[in-house]
Amino acid sequence: MAKYRAALIGCGGKGRDHTNTLIKNELVDLVAFCDIREEALQAYQEMYGVSALYTDYQEMFEKENLDLVVISTQAPQHHATTLAAATHGCHVLCEKPMAVTLGEADEMVAACDEAGVRLSINHQKRASAYNAYAKKLIADGEIGEIFLIRAYEKGGRKAGNAMMEMGTHLFDWVHNFGGEVSWADAHITAADSLEAGPQDIKHSQEVNPRDRDAGLVIGERAFCSFGFTNGIHADCDFLAESQANDRAYGLDLIGTKGRIALRRSVATVMFIHRGEFMTPVEGHQWEPVSLPDEDSITGQHLETRDINSVLQSRLIQSLLEPDCPDADPISSGREGRASLEMIHGSWESHRQGGRVAFPLKDRSHPLERWREEAS
Ligand SMILES: NC(=O)c1ccc[n+]([C@@H]2O[C@H](COP(=O)([O-])OP(=O)(O)OC[C@H]3O[C@@H](n4cnc5c(N)ncnc54)[C@H](O)[C@@H]3O)[C@@H](O)[C@H]2O)c1
Repeated sequence: MAKYRAALIGCGGKGRDHTNTLIKNELVDLVAFCDIREEALQAYQEMYGVSALYTDYQEMFEKENLDLVVISTQAPQHHATTLAAATHGCHVLCEKPMAVTLGEADEMVAACDEAGVRLSINHQKRASAYNAYAKKLIADGEIGEIFLIRAYEKGGRKAGNAMMEMGTHLFDWVHNFGGEVSWADAHITAADSLEAGPQDIKHSQEVNPRDRDAGLVIGERAFCSFGFTNGIHADCDFLAESQANDRAYGLDLIGTKGRIALRRSVATVMFIHRGEFMTPVEGHQWEPVSLPDEDSITGQHLETRDINSVLQSRLIQSLLEPDCPDADPISSGREGRASLEMIHGSWESHRQGGRVAFPLKDRSHPLERWREEAS
């Protein structure tokens, strides 16, 4: 069987992870690497032996007749590279956060729709079987009617950077269970715990030079609430704890008869509590729930990086050989855009001092607008 021709743009840290996933994938032939840094291309060639190397992605698209590209650059490059892929009829797995502005995200979705190619954003948690199982438990009435989602960030970053790094995954996870967002209402504080203002708007790498370029960000802590069109409410706090703790990261899905806890950013840990109240007293037990098919292959326990690879492979499968060709792929561009809209909606709501309705009308960067208006 002929394999799909695949390439990677962005031979940095996360690119290695994508390369390992692509090499193992039996559907694809990894034929080219692209990076603007020659030394990165040389290092990748030594590690993986792919011979076609490009410093210009346009040239790569023109010469390689690709079926799939994985875009693993930082956020500011996601828009132009996705548009180029769509022009060349190539399906796209693009890293998170999807883009820097909603306007860019809109254009990425539209370009892929018009070209008839599929776009998926690497919020790989979407592909976890734990989500489907939690949804089944909810549909079966195991925790009654779900009315509240509480989401917990893992810490280790100030709120602005946290929202664009892990918050984009967390909001996507919330969106997966909450559905269509109706409004956002957020309160963001600065280092002195007082209201963050335009003077606190910074570039992500000004906040922390070791973090990635995620454009403008704001705030030490953020307290974000969302209403969904189905009546579900969600609260997501970014508390700027100094140490990151992935075990704390996750969601509580709270229903009228119990709750489900999902934790960890990649290898999911799940619990269910059957009861109306959940307080730290005797008799209020969380029962662990495990899905052996997701945590192991043929009985062998999988490490987190292997589970990551399994999840990313599911996204690739849904781009190349979807069960329903007319449906969006897993973790679609539309879903990735919804997560970015939750971030920008939080910033816009803080700026306005109240709820903002979705979809946001102005698709430019809310912090850029605020800074310009204040200057
Ligand atoms: N989904 C996840 O689990 C996960 C985990 C880590 C990182 N990420 C995301 O992956 C992306 C990459 O992160 P990273 O840490 O690997 O960054 P990185 O800086 O290490 O790698 C990015 C690479 O892109 C290259 N690049 C920049 N502009 C380019 C262009 N125009 N054409 C070709 N190459 C170009 C850079 O030279 C660099 O080698 C980010 O968006 C990040 O948020 C996602």
